[in-house]
Amino acid sequence: MDAAVAYAREHAARFLDDLKVLLRIPSVSTLPEHKGDVRKAAEWVAADLRRMGMEHVEVIPAKGEGHPLVYADWLHAPGKPTVLCYAHYDVQPPDPLDEWVTPPFEPTERNQNLYARGAVDDKGQLVLQLKAFEALFKTNGGKLPLNVRVICEGEEEVGGEQIAAFVREHPDRLKADFALISDTEMFAPELPTLCVGLRGMIYTELEVRGAKADLHSGMYGGAAPNPFVALAQIISELKDREGKILIPGFCDDVQAPSAEELKAWKNLPFDEEEYREKEMGAPKLVGEKGYSTLERTWARPTLDVHGIVGGFTGAGAKTVIPAKATAKVSMRLVPEMTPEKSFRQYKAYVEKIKPEGVTVDVRLIHSGAPIVIGTDNEYVRAATRALKTVWGRDTVFIRSGGSIPVVGDFEKYLKIPSVMMGFGLPDDGLHAPNEKFHIPNFHRGIESVIRFFEEAGA
Ligand code: BES
Ligand code: MN
Ligand code: MN
Repeated sequence: MDAAVAYAREHAARFLDDLKVLLRIPSVSTLPEHKGDVRKAAEWVAADLRRMGMEHVEVIPAKGEGHPLVYADWLHAPGKPTVLCYAHYDVQPPDPLDEWVTPPFEPTERNQNLYARGAVDDKGQLVLQLKAFEALFKTNGGKLPLNVRVICEGEEEVGGEQIAAFVREHPDRLKADFALISDTEMFAPELPTLCVGLRGMIYTELEVRGAKADLHSGMYGGAAPNPFVALAQIISELKDREGKILIPGFCDDVQAPSAEELKAWKNLPFDEEEYREKEMGAPKLVGEKGYSTLERTWARPTLDVHGIVGGFTGAGAKTVIPAKATAKVSMRLVPEMTPEKSFRQYKAYVEKIKPEGVTVDVRLIHSGAPIVIGTDNEYVRAATRALKTVWGRDTVFIRSGGSIPVVGDFEKYLKIPSVMMGFGLPDDGLHAPNEKFHIPNFHRGIESVIRFFEEAGA
């Protein structure tokens, strides 16, 4: 039996305990009151990297506002390829808190699952990389089968700029032959999966202003512009009832998946009823006419509203015409759309359709490019061999509707292929209450990364 895999099995309980320690740190990147916790999580990752024998371990402070990066390397395998390993240690906010069966930052095991915010997204997947490194170091006389660089970030969940700036400004420090991204899912339980496409996004804020201050709705109602009504009118014209985005030119650059890719998607074990009922729990699936659910979520752009704030939202009634209303609106992008062009088109359209009597301000909060990755390279082949050994089945290639902005930056500035090997399950509840990681997937994830590095370094 493979020595590193044997080591990982022997130390499985401690590995899981270590993950629990990281999960107890509430590193919520979007909440200012958790800034210190995000830093603590970074320090924890750095300490683990140091302990196992990684070199040049560094917590790189944020430039300006924002959260630090963690860098490490071990570059003593001459003639072997170099892998750049990526994961993030920040998490989404845990609310709504009353929906959690056990508290979000008290990791709890229940029927082979570990429940906690960040369990699968992405601390569990970050720690499985760390433990694969450790197992390899300990069983190879302090060496690894290939050269390794590690870069972890603490602002993935807020679309932060630190990592993009670092990749752009220091491509030399991240020089590698390929990247391993541990932040995606498997298509189904027991089905080894590589993700080969992610959507990009633009996340925006739309602010509508009417009068200079709130107004009595009896005294002024009838003559005063209402920012909420105007906002609703604008939003209702962004998409039609058939799910088609109405921004002129928005979908012009969309590239349809190849016939071969579409055919492969048809062969995936996808039960649409179960997806609707069990995973989503919605009365009906909606979306753009003429496209399957997988096409809609993987290969078509979206437009969604996340929240509308302002005015009176307390108990009871208050007769007021608010001075302003704000909506959070995001769009997911697919190749070959670009964040810059998409935002320009959206902003121009909103300004054009805005009703009279109000002003609108359309602001970009963050953005990231979409990406599709080729599968015809030796690293993808090494990954599928490794997955076959661990899971006993052939790998499926999928895309995902989610976004990991740095993957586009790796391609653009480092010009390396990424292998997106993730071990989340469809019902893990990413970003939702009772997020979990299936514990066997944590351990088999470690084994998969060990085997992958052995294959890539062979
Ligand atoms: N890990 C997810 C992205 C993801 C989800 C990939 C499911 C594959 C399958 C990541 O942490 C995430 O949530 N990204 C945000 C990015 C955004 C805030 C820039 C997203 O997709 O909303
Ligand atoms: Mn993630
Ligand atoms: Mn996430």
